Amino acid sequence: MVHTVLNSNGSMIDTIKKRTSVRTYDEQKITEEIFDQITIILKKFEAEPGPFGNYSRFQILKLDNEESHQGVKLGTYGFIKGHMAYLVAICSKENEAIIDMGYSFEKVILNMTQMGLGTCWIGGTFSRESFMKFIDLKDNEFIGAISPIGYGSDNNRIKEKIIRRTAGADNRKSWDQMFFKNDFSTELKKEHAGELEIAFEMVRWGPSASNKQPWRLMLVEEQDIRTIHFYLDFDPKYTGNTKLGYPIQKLDIGIAMSHFEVSAIELEKAGKWVFEEPDMKKINDQYEYVGSYSI
Ligand SMILES: Cc1cc2nc3c(=O)[nH]c(=O)nc-3n(C[C@H](O)[C@H](O)[C@H](O)COP(=O)(O)O)c2cc1C
Repeated sequence: MVHTVLNSNGSMIDTIKKRTSVRTYDEQKITEEIFDQITIILKKFEAEPGPFGNYSRFQILKLDNEESHQGVKLGTYGFIKGHMAYLVAICSKENEAIIDMGYSFEKVILNMTQMGLGTCWIGGTFSRESFMKFIDLKDNEFIGAISPIGYGSDNNRIKEKIIRRTAGADNRKSWDQMFFKNDFSTELKKEHAGELEIAFEMVRWGPSASNKQPWRLMLVEEQDIRTIHFYLDFDPKYTGNTKLGYPIQKLDIGIAMSHFEVSAIELEKAGKWVFEEPDMKKINDQYEYVGSYSI
């Protein structure tokens, strides 16, 4: 199955660089026409499974009446203000379905960014129960994450962020902490990543719960085949994993998989997902093998 990048009236790589969590929105309304476009995007990504073959569901919850406005609760993240609606991402509770939802919902988020809409992944602190009053869930489904959508009120801040990102000033782990070559004791140097350097870099700029950036990637080259093994540095003590009833960091690794893949496609280095754990000595028992992208 070919995973399309959709709506690429702009580059996905540029979109990944541009995306940033938006928590303050201005009063500009989302028109019905735009809501219709959003619905088309949601339907498209509902119809495409993630790397493990699971389908996710996405719904819009408009805050256009008193009931929905007062009804849904954001917990301690009440500082998210002024937005028009929420996107609600639904999946079943198995680990692989959660990874697939992270992968697919991030593609939705990037499409919203391309449309000029602000978003913010919210996986932890919102009241799932209050959202469930407005969303029909099937057996074994749960609300994995939500995102407010609207127009960011802080255009200047966004511009500033792009500049900071270009300068590498934003808060992300360095390559040697995340990317490896052949084994976990050898860091992947940018110059050894070849044409895939940008794809690795786009993983770095991904959003992650509490910005923990738990992605660990290893490049292995054998003859003409390049394989990138994806591991999750799963933190069993992180409250995001222990308190919510699901391992939130599985979403983070799904996000990394989508960033790598959409970038590789754009770089004309499309590959495919394979799931065969390499025989690799890990430097850390927390590292969980997730899957590999083979080019
Ligand atoms: C799975 C997931 C859950 C998140 N949950 C929250 C949240 O509950 N509240 C919040 O304000 N931000 C949340 N975020 C946003 C992260 O804090 C943010 O992505 C990270 O700090 C990096 O910043 P950036 O998105 O601006 O690049 C979440 C992100 C992810 C990927």
